[in-house]
Amino acid sequence: MKFLRLLLLFVFVQTQAQQGGMWIPSLLKGMNETEMKNLGMKISADDIYSINKSSLKDAVPHFDGGCTAEVISDKGLILTNHHCGYDNIQSHSTIEHDYLTNGFWAYKMEDELPNKDLFVTFIIRIEDVTDKVLFGATNLTSEADKQKKIKDNIAELSKTLPKESWQENSIRTFYDGNQYILFVTETFRDVRLVGAPPSSIGKFGSDTDNWVWPRHTGDFSLFRIYADKNNRPAAYSTENVPYKPKYFFPISIKGIKENDFTMVMGYPGRTQEYLPAVAVEQIVTTLNPAKVDIRDAALKVQNEFMRKDNAIKIQYASKNASIANSWKKWMGETKGLKKSNAVGIKKEFEANFQQKVISAGKQTEYGNLLADFEKNYSEIKDYALARDVFTEVALRNTEILNLGYKLYQLEQIYNTKGEQSFNDRRNNLINGLGDFYKDFNAKVDEKVFEKLIGIYATTYPKQFLPSTFVNVNASSLTSEVFTQSQLVSYDKIKVLLTGDSKTVLENLNKDKGFQVIKTMADGYLKNVAPKYDEINLRISATQRTYMKAILELSKKSDRIFPDANSTFRVTYGKIKGYKPNDGVIYEPFTYLDGVIEKYIPGDYEFDVPQKLIDLYNTKDYGNYGVNGKMPVAFIATNHTTGGNSGSPALDANGNLIGLNFDRVWEGTMSDIYYSPEICRNIMVDIRYVLFIVDKFAGAENLIKEMKIVASKKK
Ligand code: ARG
Ligand code: GLU
Repeated sequence: MKFLRLLLLFVFVQTQAQQGGMWIPSLLKGMNETEMKNLGMKISADDIYSINKSSLKDAVPHFDGGCTAEVISDKGLILTNHHCGYDNIQSHSTIEHDYLTNGFWAYKMEDELPNKDLFVTFIIRIEDVTDKVLFGATNLTSEADKQKKIKDNIAELSKTLPKESWQENSIRTFYDGNQYILFVTETFRDVRLVGAPPSSIGKFGSDTDNWVWPRHTGDFSLFRIYADKNNRPAAYSTENVPYKPKYFFPISIKGIKENDFTMVMGYPGRTQEYLPAVAVEQIVTTLNPAKVDIRDAALKVQNEFMRKDNAIKIQYASKNASIANSWKKWMGETKGLKKSNAVGIKKEFEANFQQKVISAGKQTEYGNLLADFEKNYSEIKDYALARDVFTEVALRNTEILNLGYKLYQLEQIYNTKGEQSFNDRRNNLINGLGDFYKDFNAKVDEKVFEKLIGIYATTYPKQFLPSTFVNVNASSLTSEVFTQSQLVSYDKIKVLLTGDSKTVLENLNKDKGFQVIKTMADGYLKNVAPKYDEINLRISATQRTYMKAILELSKKSDRIFPDANSTFRVTYGKIKGYKPNDGVIYEPFTYLDGVIEKYIPGDYEFDVPQKLIDLYNTKDYGNYGVNGKMPVAFIATNHTTGGNSGSPALDANGNLIGLNFDRVWEGTMSDIYYSPEICRNIMVDIRYVLFIVDKFAGAENLIKEMKIVASKKK
């Protein structure tokens, strides 16, 4: 009995331990491949990444530098999220052709729309170049010299390592400077819009549902890559032809069930899984709450105006969504870190680590690392808080302070680089002003300014607070600024920026708004930034040695994966529901029924197109429905982060079953601490995508291009 319990516990720990991590596709052989097969994968590591034959990697480009896409036809058709294609869909939208509201579908290739700055990047080859990058650097004693040598080596190697003329070399660091890897890439710049559902499908649920399960968003859009006659990257041209990919994903509509294997390939942006407990504690107790409070105040003001005034709603929709996205994530992250006792678990890990250091006889090398962290993090705490408060108040959430900061930089440029640079920067600034003021409302910003200056004066660490803000009367400062400053109006600021540099700078310095940001910025740049940078450099050096020690003292089975850094990764797990709270169980699948349940006619977030309601009523789901229901989204234990948006979700055979677009709120802590119990990524079911393309949009031309794998008819 006891043995059985132990065995069960062992099996439980094993299956728990086999998930999480974002792995380098070229290094899956061995432990990862075994784990993946144990979880049910039927293909091999070689099928995922190979330089000798076409492999899955050839179908997964980085989309526009921030998202992921996947190739789904032999004519260069790619799929990504609606929120990743959003800017491009918006840029083609006019009052007459409002593609954001109504959707867009190219029924012929000639109708596809070019996008000026959009690009996608494929990985050709991945190679470890650590020795080459560290050559001549390891023996240098000064940290600054060491970093400089590494930087120079990288610049040189990027030029000299072999590649074709149309390719690029990019060298990136892994494990905090313990490993360097070369990516040879190919970037295509003729990428055309092919299809997008209406926002009421592609962005259904908007900010209310953002980061939340259960979810009902059809978050996808379609593009096509064009190449020159040799199938190589080329600038946009009518002569270009659809790109012939080395590989594209077959799409499976066979259906999926709980506990099925899934993997996600893509370009996760940033994680910090190896922070020491003291750093995590700082995030949980100090930094996240400060940032959340500031955004909370800004969002409340914006929301109130947006609810009352439709013009303001349009002006602030995109800014509001982007402020809210991180705000909501940070709250979830803080909550999750607390609830899962991440700090306690890290402390346990550290006690264990210290023990291993002693057993290995490595005290001189590694014995002081944890004490160094303690010392440096306690030293950096106020500087880090000041940095976050300054950034959030002045640079991120108060619009005229953000604009004022650009003017402040203009003055700095004059002081350091002179007249010519001043003029270039000024022209640049003036060019961007139209866009800024189009979406600026002084009444909204005035209220935000008042709230945020109040928070700044009370939360910015006292010892750094510029004296003018000690006991500041936020409301009278606000009315002074908003009645007197030229920064609040497009016409006035154009006048303010006219004339020779001397006149402009004189007038700027007389401006009340400029004076406020100048005081804040001067104080920050003099009293906070240099010291912050100095301590941070020490922390980075300790982190690098800590990472080195962790790698060195770990067993192979310890699963030490490198933090995300916007490079190509694979993560794998199982389709699985979760238990967010006592008495609550979430199922892993949602259906169109849920869309209709959430439907609020005419609502900004929860409206549903009539055509979709009709399809629901007639249950016209074609081959895509299952037992009379239309699947919409599902969740799994794949370890993902920002940048994985649009990533392909694949089944055991490497067929496309969905596309990643979010995580569940209770699990957003996975950027710092991943737990397979509650961390889930959210994917739109590929059958919903096909249903919308086929039945909703009638774009059979696109369906015909794809390779669809269905169950054999019984
Ligand atoms: N939370 C997702 C991500 O981090 C989706 C963001 C876009 N959607 C939104 N409602 N703001 O990018
Ligand atoms: N929505 C995120 C993105 O744009 C992905 C969600 C996440 O952070 O996991 O990349």
